[in-house]
Amino acid sequence: MIGILHRRRRNDAPRRLEIAVLRHNPADPASTPRLQQFTIEEAEGMTLFIALNEIRATQDPSLQFDFVCRAGICGSCAMLIDGRPGLACRTLTRDLGPRITLAPLPFFELIGDLSVNTGKWMRGTSERLQTWIHASTKVDADALEARMEPELAEAIYELDRCIECGCCIAGCGTAQMREDFVGAVGLNKIARFRLDPRDRRSDDDFYELIGDDDGVFGCMALLGCHDVCPKQLPLQTQIAYLRRKMAVLGLS
Ligand code: SF4
Ligand code: F3S
Ligand code: FES
Repeated sequence: MIGILHRRRRNDAPRRLEIAVLRHNPADPASTPRLQQFTIEEAEGMTLFIALNEIRATQDPSLQFDFVCRAGICGSCAMLIDGRPGLACRTLTRDLGPRITLAPLPFFELIGDLSVNTGKWMRGTSERLQTWIHASTKVDADALEARMEPELAEAIYELDRCIECGCCIAGCGTAQMREDFVGAVGLNKIARFRLDPRDRRSDDDFYELIGDDDGVFGCMALLGCHDVCPKQLPLQTQIAYLRRKMAVLGLS
């Protein structure tokens, strides 16, 4: 709907976009956070990735932001777009108003301007939650290539689509208050490995990992994660399921 409102008619003059970027370089003691305004002319099919590249190429080569794939696959271009977490490479400027505000994702370590270190947090969380298949014997290891029912493989693949962009963490009130909360991305990973028959961990083992306030019981069902996930992962369903399952284990 918003996209339709801002879309230009074929012969309209191109819009002038005013893009305000929150600038800060934490490595420079003299740097203080400030909004810097850039003005560019909108082009047909322009994404925020294209807009930021144009700004960096023509106005300010010191502007920091991350991109790798430009196709919504690597997760590195996540930022706050008019206050909402999203992928810059998948956001068309025509779906936004003429004044756009960009800021780095909150919560993650700031590298500079729009660039944050999601990788460090994702790696730490993966290690904490041991997000790899735990095959307990050599025979199990051989079975890693065993045939799997297509429906089950599809269900696992659905959860494996997470690109670790960090949007769900940036959109979660609990994560902003509780530093060690694993967030929807962490809970989604646990749901993925619980489904996998090659993983020999029991429900009790998973309870050990997420059966506390930094895990599934810290989630207050705010559902910002579900709303902003750019891959539309079924986070609401997975978190609700894990909560029920872990609550039963906690009572037993
Ligand atoms: Fe990004 Fe969605 Fe994965 Fe969260 S669950 S990191 S929002 S892809
Ligand atoms: Fe946060 Fe999502 Fe739970 S927004 S509180 S992880 S439902
Ligand atoms: Fe890879 Fe945007 S550049 S998701």
